Amino acid sequence: MVQKYKFGTPFETEAVVREMECAEGLPSVGTIETGEHGFCFTYTMGEKEVVYGLGETLRGMNKRGYRYISYATDDPHHHEDKISLYGSQNFILLDGEEKVGLFFDYPTKLEFDIGYTRQDTLTVSCAKADLYLYVLTGESALAIVKEFRQIIGKSYLPPKWGMGFGQSRWGYKTPEDFLFVADTYRKLGIPLDAVYMDIDYMERYKDFTTNEKNFPDFPAFTAAMKEKKVHLVPIIDAGVKVEEGYSVHDEGVKNGYFCTGEDGKPYMMAVWPGPAYMPDFLNAEARAWFGSQYQRLLEQGVDGFWNDMNEPSIFYTYDSMEAYKKGIREFLDSPIDETAYNRANALSELLTTPENYTRFYHNVNGQRVCHDQVHNLFGYNMTRAAGEAFERISPDKRILMFSRSSYIGMHRYGGIWTGDNKSWWSHLLLNIKMMPALNMCGFLFTGADIGGFGVNTTRDLVLRWLAFGVFTPLMRNHAALGTREQECYQWEKPEDFAHVVGVRYRLLPYLYSELVKAVENDEMYFRPLAFEYPEDAIARETEDQLMLGDSLMVAPVYQQNASGRVVYLPEDMLLVKFMPDGTLYQEELTKGIHYISVALNEVPMFVKKNHIVPLAQPAQCVAELNEEDFTVVGWTTEPVSYELYQDDGYTRQVGMNCTWRTISK
Ligand code: GLC
Repeated sequence: MVQKYKFGTPFETEAVVREMECAEGLPSVGTIETGEHGFCFTYTMGEKEVVYGLGETLRGMNKRGYRYISYATDDPHHHEDKISLYGSQNFILLDGEEKVGLFFDYPTKLEFDIGYTRQDTLTVSCAKADLYLYVLTGESALAIVKEFRQIIGKSYLPPKWGMGFGQSRWGYKTPEDFLFVADTYRKLGIPLDAVYMDIDYMERYKDFTTNEKNFPDFPAFTAAMKEKKVHLVPIIDAGVKVEEGYSVHDEGVKNGYFCTGEDGKPYMMAVWPGPAYMPDFLNAEARAWFGSQYQRLLEQGVDGFWNDMNEPSIFYTYDSMEAYKKGIREFLDSPIDETAYNRANALSELLTTPENYTRFYHNVNGQRVCHDQVHNLFGYNMTRAAGEAFERISPDKRILMFSRSSYIGMHRYGGIWTGDNKSWWSHLLLNIKMMPALNMCGFLFTGADIGGFGVNTTRDLVLRWLAFGVFTPLMRNHAALGTREQECYQWEKPEDFAHVVGVRYRLLPYLYSELVKAVENDEMYFRPLAFEYPEDAIARETEDQLMLGDSLMVAPVYQQNASGRVVYLPEDMLLVKFMPDGTLYQEELTKGIHYISVALNEVPMFVKKNHIVPLAQPAQCVAELNEEDFTVVGWTTEPVSYELYQDDGYTRQVGMNCTWRTISK
C-alpha cells in the first residue's frame, strides 16, 4: 500500500507518475516536524533493523551508521567519508519489525542521518518543509520495491547491443584511434559491441559538433565502424560553449533557452569548453529544443549517447572568477604571516564554491526558480530532454542513453554509470554493493567504469572487474586521460580477456531476458540476498554477493592476490565456472559456507537448484549471437523450464516482435 503526504508547496518533480490523492494527517511511521526550520522526519530503528536504498551512495547495502546528503556533486574522489555523489535517489526501505518504504520527493539538499548522530535514530531533514512524502508498506522488501517502482513508472530499456561490451577511454581523438580499438578487439577475438567517444571528438568541446580537422567525413567514419559491427556512442556535456556563430549557442541565446543570472541574461559558467551556458532543462520548450539537437549526430550514424557533467559540474562562474581574481589581488598585497598558508589554499575554493548554484535561475512555466532550489533535477531533465526527443526522432528504435547525474524519474529515460571511480579493489566491491540500491530506485541499466576510471589499474583488477561486469547491464571499460592504458589488448595473454568478455555473450540471452522482465514487471534485476532469504541471518548480512534474475547468484572475487573466495549459499546451488578452454566446470554444492577457487581467467556463477540458465554459443558481438542453439545448465531433480524473452533488440514496445521461448531441462 502506498500513501502520499503533502507538506507545504512542493515543487513538481514528476518523479512519480501515478496520480494519487494526498492522505490526511501524518504517517503512522516516525514523527515529523515542520516549521520555519524546515522539515525533519525522525524514526527510532530497532536493534536489528536494516536500512536499504539511496541508490548511488557510498558504503554498504545497509546504509546504517553514516550520513548522506542528496545534493548532486561532481567529486571524483569517492572516499568512504564522502556524503554526496552525482545522483540523488531519495528512496529508503526500513527493514525491521515492520517493513516500510519512504520516498522523499524533494529537489534539493536533503540529509539522511542513518544512525550517525545517534546509533538508533534515523532523521531525514531539509531546509524547507515543501515536499511530498510517499510511505509504502507491504509484506516483504520485494513487494514494497515493486509497488514503489509501479508508482515511478517503467525503467528505461536499452537496445540489446547496449548490453554488449563497450570500450571507452578519455583521449581517443581521431578516426584512427577508434578504428584501432575496434580492429584490435576483432583481431584478437575479444568480443566488442561499442566504442565510446569522449569529449575529444568534438570541435573544442562544442556539443553536437565533430572536429572537422580530425573527422573530415564523419558519416564515412561511422559507416566504417558499422562495417565492423561496432556502435559509436559519443558523450554530450551539459554546458554549451559561449561562442557566437555556433548554432546551439546562438539559438539558445535567441530563444531564451539558457539559465539566466540575476539580470535576466544567460549566465556564464565554465566547464570543459571554457565559458559556457547551461540549457534550462526545467523549461519544457528548452528541453524539446536541446533534445532535438541529438538528431544531428544520430543522422550521421551514431547509435547512442552518454550525458555528462550534468550535476551540473561548474569549474567557475562569472562571479566566482571575479571573486577569485579579487582574492588573488588582495593576497598579493598581503603580508606573509601565520595565516598566509591557509589564505593561499582557500583561494581556489572561491572558484568552485557551492554559492555558484545560487547565482542562476530556471524558467519553470514562467516562474523564475533559483537553481539551488531544484539542483538535483538538472541531470534528470537533461536526460529527459534526450529521452523525449528520441521518442520523436526514433519512434521505432531504442537509442542507447545513460547519464552521470540523476534523480528518480530519470530512470524512465536512460540508465546511469556511476561516474569517476578509481582503479581500486574497494571500488569493485562498491560497484557490487551499489547495484541493488540503484535497482530499487528504478535504475536497472547501470554499471561502473570497469577497471576503474582514475589512477593506474592492474591486469588482475581489470580481469576481476570484468568477471563482475559480465553480469552488470552496462558493461564498459573506461579510463581517465593520463592513466595507464587498460583496454583488454594492453595486457599479456589477451586470450584471458577474450574468454572473460566472451562469457558475457554466452550469458546475454539470459541477462537480456532478465532485464526485460525486471523492466516489465517493475522488479529488481540485482537483489541483495536478504530480499530473497529474509529469514536467513547470514544472507541478511551478506553484502558481497547478489541474486540476479530468476536463476542466478553471483559472488565476484574482489581482493587482489586472492585465488578464490568464501561464498555463502543460502540454498543448494550449482557452481558453474566458465573455464578458459571454453568448457564448463560444474559442481553441486549444498546450502552453507564454501571456499571456491577462482583463477583470474575463470568466471564463476551459481545457479539455484531446480533453476536453469540457457547459454548461447560464443559470439563476437550481439548481432552475431546465435539465439537458437543453447546449452542449458542447472542442477535439476525435477523437470524445470525457463521463459526466455527474445526480440529484435530494438523495438521500443516490449512484447512487440517478440518470442517467449520455453527452455526446459
Ligand atoms: C568526466 C566524466 C568522465 C569523462 C571526463 C571527460 O570526468 O565523468 O567519464 O571521461 O569527464 O569527458
